[in-house]
Amino acid sequence: MEGPWPRAMAAWWWWMSLLLLGIAGCGGVLQVHGQVDNLGFISLDCGLPENAAGYVDSTTKLRFTSDAGFINAGTNHNMSSEYITPLMGKSWHNVRSFGGGAGARSCYTLGPLVAGLKHLVRAKFMYGNYDGLNKAPVFDLHVGVNYWTTVNISNANTPEIYEIIAVVPGDSAEVCLVNTGSGTPFISALDLRPLENGLYPMSNSTQGLVLLTRSNFGPTDGVILRYPDDPHDRFWIPQSKPTEWSEISTAKRVHNMEGSSFDVPSAVMQTAVTPINSSSPIQFTWDAEPSANVPDPGYICILHFSELQPLPVNALRQFYVTLNGQLWLGKGLTPQYLYTNAVFNGIPSHGSHQYNVSLNATTNSTVPPILNAIEIFSVLPTTGITTATQDVSAMAAIRGMYKVKKNWMGDPCMPKNFAWKGLGCSYTVSSPPIVTGLNLSSSGLSGNLSSSFAGLKGLQYLDLSRNNLTGSIPDTLSQLSSLTLIDLTDNQLNGSIPPGLVKRTQDGSLTLRYGNNPNLCSSSNYCDASSFIFGHHFLLKVIINLVVSTVLVILLLSVLILCIKMRRRGRTRNNIKRQNEASITTSHSHNNNGHRLLRVDNRQFTYSELEAITNGFQRVIGQGGFGKVYHGLLEDGTQVAVKLRSNSSDQGEQEFLAEAQTLAKIHHKNLVSLIGYCKNREYMALVYDYMSQGALDEHLKGKDNNPRTLTWRERLCIALESAKGLEYLHKGCNPPLIHRDVKTSNILLNAKLEAKIADFGLLKAFNSKGDTHVSTARVVGTLGYLDPEYHATYQLTNKSDVFSFGVVLLEIVTGQRHILKDPEPISIVQWVRQRFGCGNIEGIVDSRMCGGHDVNGVWKIADTALKCTAQNPLQRPTMTDVVAVLQECLELEVAHDDVNGGFYSVRSGGNMNCYGQYDTGSSTNVSQSSTMFELKHLGRVPIMSTDTAPAIR
Ligand SMILES: *[C@@H]1O[C@H](CO)[C@@H](O)[C@H](O)[C@H]1NC(C)=O
Ligand SMILES: *[C@@H]1O[C@H](CO)[C@@H](O)[C@H](O)[C@H]1NC(C)=O
Ligand SMILES: *[C@@H]1O[C@H](CO)[C@@H](O)[C@H](O)[C@H]1NC(C)=O
Ligand SMILES: *[C@@H]1O[C@H](CO)[C@@H](O)[C@H](O)[C@H]1NC(C)=O
Ligand SMILES: *[C@@H]1O[C@H](CO)[C@@H](O)[C@H](O)[C@H]1NC(C)=O
Repeated sequence: MEGPWPRAMAAWWWWMSLLLLGIAGCGGVLQVHGQVDNLGFISLDCGLPENAAGYVDSTTKLRFTSDAGFINAGTNHNMSSEYITPLMGKSWHNVRSFGGGAGARSCYTLGPLVAGLKHLVRAKFMYGNYDGLNKAPVFDLHVGVNYWTTVNISNANTPEIYEIIAVVPGDSAEVCLVNTGSGTPFISALDLRPLENGLYPMSNSTQGLVLLTRSNFGPTDGVILRYPDDPHDRFWIPQSKPTEWSEISTAKRVHNMEGSSFDVPSAVMQTAVTPINSSSPIQFTWDAEPSANVPDPGYICILHFSELQPLPVNALRQFYVTLNGQLWLGKGLTPQYLYTNAVFNGIPSHGSHQYNVSLNATTNSTVPPILNAIEIFSVLPTTGITTATQDVSAMAAIRGMYKVKKNWMGDPCMPKNFAWKGLGCSYTVSSPPIVTGLNLSSSGLSGNLSSSFAGLKGLQYLDLSRNNLTGSIPDTLSQLSSLTLIDLTDNQLNGSIPPGLVKRTQDGSLTLRYGNNPNLCSSSNYCDASSFIFGHHFLLKVIINLVVSTVLVILLLSVLILCIKMRRRGRTRNNIKRQNEASITTSHSHNNNGHRLLRVDNRQFTYSELEAITNGFQRVIGQGGFGKVYHGLLEDGTQVAVKLRSNSSDQGEQEFLAEAQTLAKIHHKNLVSLIGYCKNREYMALVYDYMSQGALDEHLKGKDNNPRTLTWRERLCIALESAKGLEYLHKGCNPPLIHRDVKTSNILLNAKLEAKIADFGLLKAFNSKGDTHVSTARVVGTLGYLDPEYHATYQLTNKSDVFSFGVVLLEIVTGQRHILKDPEPISIVQWVRQRFGCGNIEGIVDSRMCGGHDVNGVWKIADTALKCTAQNPLQRPTMTDVVAVLQECLELEVAHDDVNGGFYSVRSGGNMNCYGQYDTGSSTNVSQSSTMFELKHLGRVPIMSTDTAPAIR
């Protein structure tokens, strides 16, 4: 018969009694786990006010305390009074709930514990209509980064109890409630009990055990046994079936073997059942409960036996154990008198809808089988990947020092969708996630700059701007070799920039922003120039420029003297060239129009040279308001784009100069770079890097020459790169620059599809400090991309670029134009808002990507785009914020691809579903203890006999 049992399984069945023959006569067997002092128990009454005194539970004498010290989120509520009964333990009366401000994941940190020890964690829930909504929620529980179970509250007066046995890797156990969109998570009570690592050997560092049932067979008094009868405070639920089973019991103590793996309390083992009809087997079943998370859960069943009757010499109790018809061991089992034996499967059983265990007497047996207790677990992989340990410690220290609230609970980077706000994490296949970015801008931080930041060895980006940080800047930060940006703007730091950081800024490996720290390095004049100075590097540049200028002025004087003689030969283009050069060299002076002049490092072309390199202006590759753009080839084979201003262009000399001058000054890998220019009386031209893949809009339109659709990852890269270009204009330039015409046709792509912002003809600086906008009565920008505020104020700010970039992002996500026909013309912002409002995310995604995208990423980008296009500029994020979101999405996407590549699965850590719940429904005689209350609701276990209908739940 082809059963669910692999053949190897038999080897995994353990029959402990075989080992025990020599011990039986020894009397006082060592009770390894008998210590009840110094228990190491944590018993939390969740929702008990922080200042309320703890109390001792009358039945167990265990002390409950408020949970306030173990979690940083949630609010306390009382259960609705109609659900409170006199028998109910006090810990059920109130709950902590995680609605409103709480994030999607709220975590308890239970500790401090001894790292690496096995623990039993028990979470209890009773809804009791605490919120008056009469609607019980469904949510998930995680233990650490691993999915544990789904809490499904069936009704208001049913307590649900979930238990797991797992090894806690660190010095605290994290228990997280995760909002899955089906109601507000809440919790009534939380227990943690340490277990010796020798107990439950099938639970180890990579596998936990989720309790389905733990039954004590025999007693009809209805008492749940737990602490102090069970030193580990497991709940043993009484089971009896008077129609089929009779109870056997003894007053004598039942012993565990030395080194017992289960340490079942004597009180549990002192009762057992045996069939009334001595030829019947003892049978019970349980149903598999597959779920989306765990389609085929694996079960481990542990049977605990002890002989309780001193049998006559000629009598024999011997029986087979079968599971779904398969024999567990090749031979019959005979329990030891007053010693506990256990049988369990070491390899979990899979593949059945229902599991049926049967204890049949062997032919030689003279008495029927016996069963004292059982435990059934499903196994839960706990292999979820966690953030690198040193980063976890550093982040915990930072959180502690600055009392950061946010959603900083649980593991910092994992699971990815619950990573801490403001954190950038890097996820690679070969090593645990590390923190690479930390944005604590405007987070109300005060006090010194923590040395723990330097504990984040992989940090690349640290933004602490707009806080109240005081003290000096620690030099330890300079040892973070990956760090490329520190933003300390707008704080109260003092002292000077430490030498290590100065050196890093000088060698160009680090950008340090520290403007608006009034007490910082007040003696150096380069400090007050701007908030975005690149350290001494800048000073160095100024000096070099001055020296170069002086030398050049001298040279030029001689050249001019030489020229006087040549002048009479008539006007030549060279003449113009020299004049330009003369003014160019004084790069930090101003000409009559107040324009800063071009610097020497751009090449000047003559018109005939342009003719030559463009092969007579043969190949037009673009057309703008300025004029046509031609393809060109320099002498060394470099491809260039030549933008020639036509005489009819309404873009005048001013704009030409603006663009030329700006481009000459700014250099960033995501801004189109200027190679040279040409200016004489009739012609003006700019010569740029050739961007062979043209403008982004062409790619999004999917024109004939671009049959291939950009993938989601390519789109993300392009979005990120162009955002970085804009961020540089806004933040890296002094004074800050506004592009004023951000649109997909101004984002150009090179052969590697790297994006660069182009067309700076409208670019403006907003100069002095108070002046944060550019005022213009001229119509600028492009319809559909233009900040709606502009129509009211005729003012453009950097937030206007953010608006336009939001439109670009929407085009990138949707593949639609910035103005659609739907069927009436409608702006893409409206169009997306309408769909997004209804949660229709897939409805906005460019279908040509054929689903090769991560919905969370798309959602995040679309959400950011809509924030960028908020009507009120104040509500729009900065380009720095946008860059951070895009960076994060790209990292997620890269990791997502890696996962799809099959290296590891993020969620593989916990796809097990819930089995630890006990339903209400059975009614037992009500007695006076709170244990009886629990029994009333919990006393139902998946047990049935052969002739009753299918299972329990
Ligand atoms: C819960 O009830 C107690 C009295 O039983 C009261 O003192 C407390 O303020 C209530 N808490 C809340 C959150 O309503
Ligand atoms: C944990 O137990 C499982 C099942 O016995 C085994 O496959 C796994 O290797 C064990 N893990 C460790 C770390 O020992
Ligand atoms: C155990 O008993 C059940 C019910 O009588 C029977 O179906 C099954 O075959 C028996 N198994 C063995 C191994 O005798
Ligand atoms: C039953 O007893 C006989 C005689 O003692 C023995 O040969 C046989 O192996 C026993 N059967 C079982 C199943 O133990
Ligand atoms: C800094 O502290 C002052 C007073 O202590 C407070 O008024 C101000 O709001 C704080 N600023 C920030 C950004 O937290």
